[in-house]
Amino acid sequence: MRSSAFNHTDIEALRSKLKANSAPVPCVDFGAGSKGSTTTVSGIARRSLKRPKHARALAALAQHIESEAVLELGTSLGLTSAYISRHTTALTTAEGNPHIRALALSNWRQLSVQNVRSFEGEFEQIWEGFADTTYDLIFIDGNHRGEALMRYAKKSLSMLQPNGVLVCDDIHWSLDMEQAWNDLCSMPEWTVQLDAFEWGLLTRNQALKREHVCIRF
Ligand SMILES: C[S@@+](CC[C@H](N)C(=O)[O-])C[C@H]1O[C@@H](n2cnc3c(N)ncnc32)[C@H](O)[C@@H]1O
Repeated sequence: MRSSAFNHTDIEALRSKLKANSAPVPCVDFGAGSKGSTTTVSGIARRSLKRPKHARALAALAQHIESEAVLELGTSLGLTSAYISRHTTALTTAEGNPHIRALALSNWRQLSVQNVRSFEGEFEQIWEGFADTTYDLIFIDGNHRGEALMRYAKKSLSMLQPNGVLVCDDIHWSLDMEQAWNDLCSMPEWTVQLDAFEWGLLTRNQALKREHVCIRF
């Protein structure tokens, strides 16, 4: 159920437990250059997840736009999903690594998250499955390569509500991600383009004037 309260202490307590969990997790390489064949729960919890303030910001955004449906590409351990799920009606999320997705499912059980629809598989191979509805917010947080970001962003347009918001993670992570972000910003669809450094936000809400804004928090 959507909540207006911003209490996420249970999610952060679970994050601390995951950071201390040295259980191995097999890697799946989606072409973005994952190193090694095995990682650990701890390694994922420390390095792959949005930090609490960014997860809070995404949850606040989902709430501010009164989102009914949010899509996350890249579930990982499901903690950012848990944040967002409390501030929207329904969250759909996709993860290609079955071992990681299984951990997310367990985490959501522990956090009593019930409004999440979880897809397993490589994004573009399972795209049709989650393209059955339109979303108020789409968060692209997997496969951080510029050409992949461009493809996902363009494919997302037909699933995005007219006033919907697209958030792209790690827009300054590499030269090609930066180039993709710049190319996206130059598309005429978007009115506000917000660069929060760690992620970028685009909206085609025509009630807003076209502008490019940078914020740091
Ligand atoms: C950065 S993590 C997501 C973090 C998560 N959104 C959070 O903040 O908690 C990216 C995830 O996307 C998955 N992934 C990357 N490329 C993928 C692809 N092409 N198809 C499916 N999953 C992919 C990875 O396995 C990884 O778990």
